[in-house]
Amino acid sequence: MAIGILGGTGPAGSALAVRLASVGQDVVIGSRSTERAEEVRAELIARWPGRQLALRGGGNDEAADCELVVVATPWDAAASTAASVGPRLEGKVVVSMANAIAKVGDELQPLVPPRGSVAAGVQAAVPAALVAAALHHVPARELGDIDHPVECDVLVCADQPAALKAASDLVAAVPGLTPVDAGSLSSAAAVEAFTAVLLQVNRRYRTRTALRLVGLPRG
Ligand SMILES: NC(=O)c1ccc[n+]([C@@H]2O[C@H](COP(=O)([O-])OP(=O)(O)OC[C@H]3O[C@@H](n4cnc5c(N)ncnc54)[C@H](OP(=O)(O)O)[C@@H]3O)[C@@H](O)[C@H]2O)c1
Repeated sequence: MAIGILGGTGPAGSALAVRLASVGQDVVIGSRSTERAEEVRAELIARWPGRQLALRGGGNDEAADCELVVVATPWDAAASTAASVGPRLEGKVVVSMANAIAKVGDELQPLVPPRGSVAAGVQAAVPAALVAAALHHVPARELGDIDHPVECDVLVCADQPAALKAASDLVAAVPGLTPVDAGSLSSAAAVEAFTAVLLQVNRRYRTRTALRLVGLPRG
């Protein structure tokens, strides 16, 4: 199954792309510019020359032709980007990983996007897609460093069981990432907003935290 990433040229999308490719997934890095997507693909291949990374670069439309599609644009471009390839997303699972965050003075603060969450906005923009929200808290730098494992619980929210399963399977394909069913898409508002809290903790402690829940049955 190929995975397409809309806005896959940024830190988050390219990190996800290379991590998924490192575990044998076929990934299309999508962009508004095919040249930019090719550049980012070439940079990733050059950084890990010994790996067989099944990465392709292309337009967002090519990424949207994949069986599963991730939206990795800035929050305020997520719904419009999904809508721009809307017919290609019909009936597919679309994973929104965008967080609505603003820098206010020294603080990173959560914004309330239209419809309450970025994921809900994406779902409204492509009503025939099955939207899940996931991967909001996984730091791009660790995710993109495929020489080292990444450790994180990943909250997954979705309204349809098929979206929950596909997004959870995507997360579980990466060793060290554990999908956690966090409820319906309405929970995405809290999940997205919590990213600002983690980023604030990171600034205060000069580190990059990741989420690990205690009390969950494991294995
Ligand atoms: N950075 C992290 O650690 C991290 C972790 C988890 C989740 N996230 C979330 O993932 C998302 C992407 O993060 P990022 O840091 O990679 O963002 P970014 O670099 O600002 O944007 C990602 C890509 O989106 C495309 N894009 C930018 N503006 C756009 C617009 N107006 N319309 C359509 N496409 C646009 C660009 O690709 P092209 O120019 O090639 O089209 C860009 O390379 C964010 O919502 C962020 O909250 C980030």
